Amino acid sequence: MNGLQLLGTGRCLPSRRVTNEDFARTLDTSDAWITERTGIRQRYFCAEGETAVSLAVGAARQALEDAGVQPGQVGLCIAATFTADRRTPALACEVQAALGLPQTTLCLDINAACTGFVAALETARCLLLGGQLAGPYALVLGAEKISSLLDFSDRSTCVLFGDGAGAAVVRLDPQAPWAAVFGTRGDGQVLHGGGPEDPYLAMDGRAVFRFAVETVPVCIRAVLDKAGLTLDAVDHLVLHQANSRIIHSIAKKLEQAPARFYENMQRYGNTSAASIPIALDEMRRAGQLCPGQTVLCAGFGAGLTWGGVLLRA
Ligand code: ACO
Repeated sequence: MNGLQLLGTGRCLPSRRVTNEDFARTLDTSDAWITERTGIRQRYFCAEGETAVSLAVGAARQALEDAGVQPGQVGLCIAATFTADRRTPALACEVQAALGLPQTTLCLDINAACTGFVAALETARCLLLGGQLAGPYALVLGAEKISSLLDFSDRSTCVLFGDGAGAAVVRLDPQAPWAAVFGTRGDGQVLHGGGPEDPYLAMDGRAVFRFAVETVPVCIRAVLDKAGLTLDAVDHLVLHQANSRIIHSIAKKLEQAPARFYENMQRYGNTSAASIPIALDEMRRAGQLCPGQTVLCAGFGAGLTWGGVLLRA
């Protein structure tokens, strides 16, 4: 079916850990409110000198080492991000320079917010299938410095997010199942930021909640239908880590036990495009994600966008 095989993963979190209690010292909020509403207990923010690029490079180095792939074998470096340090060069180009990837590597960023990593996987698969890349391996990154867009006096947004990067090395596997489903509902109001008139992230939390719980179960079912699989054939469900209650509501709609869905937002908050590769890396290093297993990844977020793909570990 020409799917993707996951050969290695990595993650990198910045050094500044901020707990819910830390926020409660400066904002009218509490650990109980944040934990009950979101499942988030702490997150990491970049300290001085830490950037989206430095996080991406840290995660990418680990992923290449984990995969046993040399920089010279990488034909594609694709970074999903909506918080790159600069508009140009692309974050992926800075990763290329830092890691010494060959000059023949195609390097590019994509912005699909929290759907970014899933969209990058499908982009990588299509480019690998196209046969024109200079190497058989793709380095797929999700890297975010969301703190650069946060208003730290707005309790309704700043407690939800975190900075971080995750990376995956993939290659085509003719035996691996594949299906990808995407959607977009162009909306500049529900979740937006980073423009001249709206420098900070702003959102209608309830609308985002409803959107996620409505679209993601349909997306997951569509991925399975396309691949001719049932949910039982999938070993792991790894969703974007925005909010524990969103994941539990999706589980309920799919009539699945919540425990089937990996959760780590308690440690990192919502790291947007980085959340799925960070989760994959944690699972792999903990021995939870074993060779031959099938993973269904689904993202959702600003755009509004959503998407789901399969991966073979
Ligand atoms: N601490 C204490 N009180 C708060 C906080 C806070 N951090 N934030 C908001 N409140 C208050 C509000 O001001 C409001 O007070 P009021 O009733 O006096 O006006 C009250 O809590 C209820 O606010 P709601 O927004 O209605 O609270 P809700 O129960 O909907 O929870 C939340 C808010 C957690 C944001 C929820 O809507 C949610 O989880 N939405 C999904 C959003 C999400 O996950 N976004 C991530 C971005 S999606 C993506 O990944 C791009």
